Amino acid sequence: MTGAATTQTFRTAIVPAAGLGTRFLPATKAVPKELLPVVDTPGIELVAAEAAAAGAERLVIVTSPGKEAVVKYFEAQPELEENLKAKGKDELLEKVRRGPALLAVETAIQEQALGLGHAVAQAEPNLTPDDEAVAVLLPDDLVLPTGVLERMSAVRAEHGGSVLCAFDIPKAEISPYGVFDVSDTDDEDVKRVHGMVEKPKPEDAPSTYAAAGRYLLDRAIFDALKRITPGSGGELQLTDAVALLITEGHPVHIVVHRGGRHDLGNPGGFLRAAVDFALETPEYGPSLRAWLTERIGTDRP
Ligand code: G1P
Repeated sequence: MTGAATTQTFRTAIVPAAGLGTRFLPATKAVPKELLPVVDTPGIELVAAEAAAAGAERLVIVTSPGKEAVVKYFEAQPELEENLKAKGKDELLEKVRRGPALLAVETAIQEQALGLGHAVAQAEPNLTPDDEAVAVLLPDDLVLPTGVLERMSAVRAEHGGSVLCAFDIPKAEISPYGVFDVSDTDDEDVKRVHGMVEKPKPEDAPSTYAAAGRYLLDRAIFDALKRITPGSGGELQLTDAVALLITEGHPVHIVVHRGGRHDLGNPGGFLRAAVDFALETPEYGPSLRAWLTERIGTDRP
């Protein structure tokens, strides 16, 4: 989006990556789920690339003891690079350098798994005085096509406050999400938010607009995070801090993203993402497509 340069509203992106990855056990005994490859690239690099493309210069990865490999992934590996260079493996060299070159990566540690709100709060000491707003990207969520953060930045530039990404999803499927109570604006894809509730039953959901893992939050969120109490699941919820800000008159809007989405947080969603991405590559796409077609054709219930 061309307006990105003029409506840039954040420099720091926060990626909460402290979870235990229980849905990916036993693999996550040894490998953080954020490093599992979508074709050949860890999910966390896809998310970091999205943040960098939207103008982030710094990425604060909130991680937990034992998951240092997630941050290490963004460090340069001079020996490996030398080796690849000596062998003339330029394409691989470019891939190896890509992650570390995206943006500056820092770490914040979440010692205890007390919820998403608590995880985001751990990044506050990493902020600088000029961080008036921060982006938060949940690495489980791939939002496609990318670019929604640029739109969210433009909405903050216009309306102020905080801006979240939403998907319009069937009410029967709404319970795993934070759900918005909204009213329309002049722009069909931008709605004003009057309340937000975490993981409601379908009959209690205020709308069909669900939070989709991309947040552009005014710095005021960190003060709100200090004042919330445990909510859904007994956890400190980011949703509840956003809801608190709304009750205090802080403007919150959503950008309704009319694209696709993959949930990398469970094996079923992860596989879809991997197949989706692989089908798009010249290297693996054609043979995978042919094999899948044959495999599905011979499937017996
Ligand atoms: C988190 C948020 C929820 C949001 C969801 C998007 O839930 O708490 O509001 O809708 O991510 O994926 P989680 O998936 O961590 O349970």
